[in-house]
Amino acid sequence: MSKQTTSHDNDAMRQKYYAMIENPDMLDYGVYLKCDKLLSCQKPLAELSTSDELQFQIVHQVEELWMKLMTFTLVEIIEYMRKRQSHRVITLFSRVHRIQRMMIDQLGVLETMSPKEYQQIRLQLGNGSGQESPGFRMLLKLPNDLWQAFEESYLENGAISIDSIYDEQYTHDEKYAIAEALIEYDELFQLFRWRHLFLIHRSIGLGSDSLKGRPVDLLQQGARKRFFPQLWDIRCTMTDRWGSEYGKVRPSISGKS
Ligand code: HEM
Repeated sequence: MSKQTTSHDNDAMRQKYYAMIENPDMLDYGVYLKCDKLLSCQKPLAELSTSDELQFQIVHQVEELWMKLMTFTLVEIIEYMRKRQSHRVITLFSRVHRIQRMMIDQLGVLETMSPKEYQQIRLQLGNGSGQESPGFRMLLKLPNDLWQAFEESYLENGAISIDSIYDEQYTHDEKYAIAEALIEYDELFQLFRWRHLFLIHRSIGLGSDSLKGRPVDLLQQGARKRFFPQLWDIRCTMTDRWGSEYGKVRPSISGKS
């Protein structure tokens, strides 16, 4: 006959696994990756305000790690742009874009947390705000240097225009490929901000105030920002040019509209 599990059994099981989590076996793999330090960067398990707090800390920490790698890689990209090593620039941008997509996706993990339980975690945060994120603040500084390197090396300090790359002299060359990598970075950055707005919408609501006392809604202004407006504007210029040549409203091809 099977024995009924008691709360004592559960406590014993929990203690056994918590001890394993908090005192990892340190073989060569763990030593190289500093797993002891890494795994002690979260609150001790016995002190969590709710079981959701561990995922809240881990998702934020993982995102900080990705932003560290992104910043490091973007600095490399700037250097390679200055040396005009375009294949390297494209490969490294591809790495950054993949990280950005993962970061967007990973925000969804926090949507498994109920709004009620999040209120308990919120009590732990002092008046901390995501706007103080060291990774995010570094990333906000980089676009100026990225654009400057692109201007110097690929626009040859103003001798080549965006118009010529995209329209007048369009050949789908390296300048075009790198401009597209820049706009993809810009787009994914803003998609992160929009995705994060939906996360807020689900957890505390958009009509509330942040822990700094600011209306959360203000974040929408940041999400509308574009780092490289010239790369966005060229598309309107080309469409308007096309419209003035072929007519803004074209004859229907179905004959019904
Ligand atoms: C339930 C989860 C989350 C909630 C409720 C939340 C809430 C907020 C709020 C209210 C703000 C505005 C702060 C202010 O006005 O000072 C903010 C900003 C921010 N949060 Fe979160 N956040 C969450 C998860 C995350 C995660 C996982 C990250 C990962 C990096 C993150 C990164 C940021 C960043 C970078 C900002 C500044 C955004 C900007 O200026 O556009 N947040 N968050």
